[in-house]
Amino acid sequence: MSDNDTTAGTLRNGKEPRTINGRALKPSTLMMGHGYDPVLSEGSLKPPIFLTSTFAFPSAADGKRHFEGITGKRPGGADGLVYSRFNAPNQEILEDRLAIWDRAEDALSFSSGMTAICVLMLAYASQGDVIVHSGPLYAASEGFVAKVLARFGVRYVDFPAGATREEIDGVLARAKDLAAEHGGKVCMVYLESPGNPTNALVDVEAVRAAVDAAQLTCPIAIDNTFLGPLWQRPLEHGADIVVYSLTKYVGGHSDLVAGSIAGAKKWIDPVRSLRNTMGGICDPNTAWMLLRSLETVELRMQRAGENAAKVCEYLARHPKVEGLGYLGMIADQRQQDIYDRHCLGAGSTFSVFLAGGEAECFRFLDNLKIAKLAVSLGGTETLASHPASMTHLSVAEGRRAELGISDNLVRISIGIEDADDLIADFEQALEAV
Ligand SMILES: Cc1ncc(COP(=O)(O)O)c(C=O)c1O
Repeated sequence: MSDNDTTAGTLRNGKEPRTINGRALKPSTLMMGHGYDPVLSEGSLKPPIFLTSTFAFPSAADGKRHFEGITGKRPGGADGLVYSRFNAPNQEILEDRLAIWDRAEDALSFSSGMTAICVLMLAYASQGDVIVHSGPLYAASEGFVAKVLARFGVRYVDFPAGATREEIDGVLARAKDLAAEHGGKVCMVYLESPGNPTNALVDVEAVRAAVDAAQLTCPIAIDNTFLGPLWQRPLEHGADIVVYSLTKYVGGHSDLVAGSIAGAKKWIDPVRSLRNTMGGICDPNTAWMLLRSLETVELRMQRAGENAAKVCEYLARHPKVEGLGYLGMIADQRQQDIYDRHCLGAGSTFSVFLAGGEAECFRFLDNLKIAKLAVSLGGTETLASHPASMTHLSVAEGRRAELGISDNLVRISIGIEDADDLIADFEQALEAV
């Protein structure tokens, strides 16, 4: 919804400035109050949690007008709160604030990252269509395309994350042919950058240029979970829709599960419409927790990023470490070029390749004292896991090898602890390898 929309919901606050004397306020400032007016909630400084399934209409005519907006009989969407499967105050404030980080016109919140991804793809894919995607993707995203959408006649063509413009042109041409063969269209280009767990980057600018050159009208969506919202803003590099598992850096405390998408209203509207039908919106309590998380997201990510740089500096020189998949130490020239054009920071999630294989990785993981042995990432605490035997176990062995997910790869997500304490922990765990 637009910044000066004062009619959109009971909490819409048209008075709050987004600029002062022509100075655009930064997201970190806007996270404290944007989209919430205390006057409308008994002066409560923070938004209450609105535990209600439905909203009372001021008049029958208002009820009719709201439903005309929701059903699309009148353009412009809902202009008030109606029912909590569609929208509600905590989620609406959350969505307004999420949109700010990606400079997006609109955003939607979901009950998980995977709900966001599944509803997004379902909103755009029809029988006979083709999805073009980068690889690797988060295993469940890849599985949803290859196994679930396939049952409904949706096909896919994939390309490796580091693909060049020429390679992407070739993939799009193949996808167009495949779609034409089955009476469909290329309905979405879906990217994940950096890829999980190798940190391989996709050249989003090259994908944009290739999509335009191929005269495709579908959206380019990108999972920005690993670097967003601080270290990469894909909408500024040609993507149309940005996707998040808010469970990770945005939530940031490993205590909730949620997801989101953001982009121009014209791309978000079809997804909102399907979410209205299916549900899958984030619940009010989780939305409230995310509002609290957003107040510190910049601080947390900055600290985690600084810690990761120090830890990687140490690990890179350790004799039992064969290599690092850390964006602050890229060995490949093309990947470095993509990084320089797209990224604002190296993040705090990376892979460590230990000398040895599964046994050595397990000894390392079992001996960690501060870092916790758990999947997920982006929390205040440091986590470590073994993708080949955990998150990516369901990926076929050949494909795992193709993607570089080897038995000696440990994935680490650095938190906001003291960096030297973390280094001491890794040092003693490596001694046990
Ligand atoms: C890159 C990426 N995308 C999406 C997801 C799915 O998010 P969620 O677990 O919130 O459903 C994950 C989860 O690990 C992820 O790492």
